[in-house]
Amino acid sequence: MQENYQQKTLGILGGGQLGRMVIQSAINYNIDIHILDPDDNAPCKSIAKKFVQGKLTDFATVYNFGKTCDILTIEIEHVNTEALAKLEQEGKKVFPQPHIIELIQDKRKQKQFYLNNNIPTAEFILTDNKAAVRANSGFLPAVNKLGTEGYDGRGVQIMREAADLDLAFDAPSLLEKLVDFDKEISVIVARNEKGELKTFPPVECAFHPSANLVEYLFSPAEINDLIKEKAILEAQKIIEKLNMVGILAVEMFVTPKGEILVNEIAPRPHNSGHHTIEANYTSQFEQHLRAVMNMPLGDTAIRTPAAMVNLLGEDGYTGEAIVEGLNEAMAEKGVYVHLYGKKITKPFRKMGHVTILEENLEKLKPKAKRIKDLIKIKA
Ligand SMILES: Nc1ncnc2c1ncn2[C@@H]1O[C@H](COP(=O)(O)OP(=O)(O)OP(=O)(O)O)[C@@H](O)[C@H]1O
Ligand SMILES: [Mg+2]
Repeated sequence: MQENYQQKTLGILGGGQLGRMVIQSAINYNIDIHILDPDDNAPCKSIAKKFVQGKLTDFATVYNFGKTCDILTIEIEHVNTEALAKLEQEGKKVFPQPHIIELIQDKRKQKQFYLNNNIPTAEFILTDNKAAVRANSGFLPAVNKLGTEGYDGRGVQIMREAADLDLAFDAPSLLEKLVDFDKEISVIVARNEKGELKTFPPVECAFHPSANLVEYLFSPAEINDLIKEKAILEAQKIIEKLNMVGILAVEMFVTPKGEILVNEIAPRPHNSGHHTIEANYTSQFEQHLRAVMNMPLGDTAIRTPAAMVNLLGEDGYTGEAIVEGLNEAMAEKGVYVHLYGKKITKPFRKMGHVTILEENLEKLKPKAKRIKDLIKIKA
């Protein structure tokens, strides 16, 4: 059967690095992508078939943009879902579906969804303001999380003792038990309109202690088969309960007892899947494209163990970005540098990433550290 995927225009809300890597894979299938982003210098600008500058949270902007596309998707959750719902009613395909984006925009609703669907997650209470957090000092040690608009660790406040209560959010938020976890892992699962389902093997995330961003990622995660199975099953259960089409990243904690607790989900390509470009048979970006375009999903198996490091803007430098150590890194076998096309660097801004391949995790760990220490983004 002949399929003319290239006759459909895919619109993406958001034109950052995630959209940019989706465009890179769409080129292989002759699929045109239109991008909406508020930033006139967005990473997708020069490579999108059409680029519209506009606010993702504005009803008319999103609606008018959507009218010109056949299929719509997102690379960021903070978008106007009313406009997407109207486009869906008018016959456009919108994946992930607008009501799912709405659920995920709010960490409070997300947690309730886990509770209602028997998905293991850390115990929590909802708090409407700072006073409500204070009133629950008996719940510490805990993590206070903003309901909406938190990202990259902003909107997350760890509270170990009563003195930390001063840091509580004075807005609708939740207070969640601090999990004493062994590891943080992530599972990316994809589903298309036909209901076909494919899951990437779990990866392990090591966080930067102060910036609260993933510092290293390792694939595969070093977990036993039982935990691996449980993690994959939870991710599949979530995407199926949501009846979602697209790609879903599920962040989880593994406790010392071998329990899995779901932390949060993201219905789009995710930082924990960047290595799949080189390290798996299908990349998460291509899988996202395949899922929303109702193409057959690709095989997710690992080709080779991999590490991924984010290239964050060095602390103390703001201005036009200069990449230090690039030539040395490029001379190494199995080192793949991705720069996102952001002209201006700022402390901890995600400027790019590097994937590092090796035959085993043992060799991979020191190599990843060496590469991370080698490449610096300064101004
Ligand atoms: N209940 C918890 N117990 C212990 N640590 C936690 C808990 N919740 C979050 N954290 C830590 O804080 C990090 C950020 O939390 P979370 O993923 O909810 O926020 P986020 O701002 O959406 O992050 P990101 O955008 O980086 O994924 C987690 O990856 C984890 O390291
Ligand atoms: Mg997170």
